Amino acid sequence: MESNGIIRIDDENFEFPIIEGTEQEKALDLRTLRAKTGFVAFDEGYGNTGSCESAITFINGEKGILRHRGYPIEQLAEHSNFVETAYLIINGELPTAASLNAFEGNVLRSGTLNANMISLFKGFNTSAHPMAMLSSIVNALGTYNAQYATNVRKIDLEHFDTAATLLMSKVRSIAALSYRMKVGLPLDIESDSSKFYTEDFLTMMFSKPEIEYEDTCGAAKALDLFFLLHADHEQNCSTSTVRMVASSGANLFASISAGISALWGPSHGGANMAVIEMLESIHASGDDGSRFIEAAKSGKAKLMGFGHRVYKNYDPRAKILGKSAIKVLEKIGVNDPLLDIASRLEKAALEDDYFVSRKLYPNVDFYSGIILKAIGIPVEFFTVMFAIGRIPGWMANWKEIAKNSKSRIHRPRQIYTGSNERNFVKLEKRG
Ligand code: CMC
Repeated sequence: MESNGIIRIDDENFEFPIIEGTEQEKALDLRTLRAKTGFVAFDEGYGNTGSCESAITFINGEKGILRHRGYPIEQLAEHSNFVETAYLIINGELPTAASLNAFEGNVLRSGTLNANMISLFKGFNTSAHPMAMLSSIVNALGTYNAQYATNVRKIDLEHFDTAATLLMSKVRSIAALSYRMKVGLPLDIESDSSKFYTEDFLTMMFSKPEIEYEDTCGAAKALDLFFLLHADHEQNCSTSTVRMVASSGANLFASISAGISALWGPSHGGANMAVIEMLESIHASGDDGSRFIEAAKSGKAKLMGFGHRVYKNYDPRAKILGKSAIKVLEKIGVNDPLLDIASRLEKAALEDDYFVSRKLYPNVDFYSGIILKAIGIPVEFFTVMFAIGRIPGWMANWKEIAKNSKSRIHRPRQIYTGSNERNFVKLEKRG
């Protein structure tokens, strides 16, 4: 039975329908609020705003639950891999053996970039940030595949499957080439479709002339798990950006390029870089972590990798990555002091009233940097790894918007706080 909620303004009651998601999340449907009342809802940062209906990912931040298409992240992390989870997120169902084979084959065969695209890397300074390169080149990828990037929804949707496998594959080559450009390695690399997704990526990134990269420590497996755990996370800053851009009818490549830019910031994907920088500075200062905890409590520092807008409990991905970090370091035989500092910070924070009362727990970025560092990924490329992992989620969200014939361009309102109307004074009279 449909029920309504009432908003009372002055002496008047206004009724709005209550809508309920499949996990009993309730929302007041305020789409007619302004028309009925003349008011708009003010929710800076959108912490209380359901910006869309989506069937892709469910999070219960209070309980620490994350599910993609209904499947708990713990089960996917244990039994699936990145490519299969990407298929699930994009298509809504787990693949059959035949459909996974076809999807994986298409992804693995699409990795090589053409010579004109490779020459784009030569135009960047070696100091260019890899996220800037990634965002630019993903957008440029649309110009090299213009038939899939027409900004005509019907056409872009018809080509979605091809565009999606191409993007998921080539994002690795773009990341590898930006690394090679920065460190002065030859750019004439080719993807090898006989290798697995992550193994091929690491080979493209780290192989030297005549010396092919060899994965001796299970790096590909650890990175695959990292990608899987980042594959989607409902309406975060970058995914909502992708949806915002897509809502105007923009093509997949342009929308995802915008998502990459949104991910770059230190409050979002850039946090994995910031965590390592924080751990390194704690280590260099000889602090065991306790001075830093005090600084975070007094507002002088931020405990990077802690806290989340949605999780008010342990981020389930952080639990899995914490265990994976220990395993990876054991396998490599490295005793990284940063892992000890991270464990001490985590323990101290989880016992401290400042963090407990604010429900601040480790998030996905807290341990991920330790894994990436251990497998040889430079700190500057950490957020690029996050972006590669998040591509399936962004694409699924783009598709959801594009397929919804009723979706409207995203166009929020604002509360204007500037000057009231003024009369223009000509320059010569302004003194
Ligand atoms: N260290 C110390 N204090 C913190 C932290 C932290 N990491 N995070 C939040 N707080 C405090 C904050 O100062 C505030 O205190 P008070 O109530 O006294 O003013 C209180 O906790 C509530 O914080 P908030 O700023 O309202 O929380 P938010 O939901 O706006 O921000 C956040 C969430 C993730 C941006 C924030 O927790 C943060 O900056 N964390 C560190 C950066 C980080 O790890 N980001 C990665 C997020 S997860 C990956 C992703 O989604 O991209």
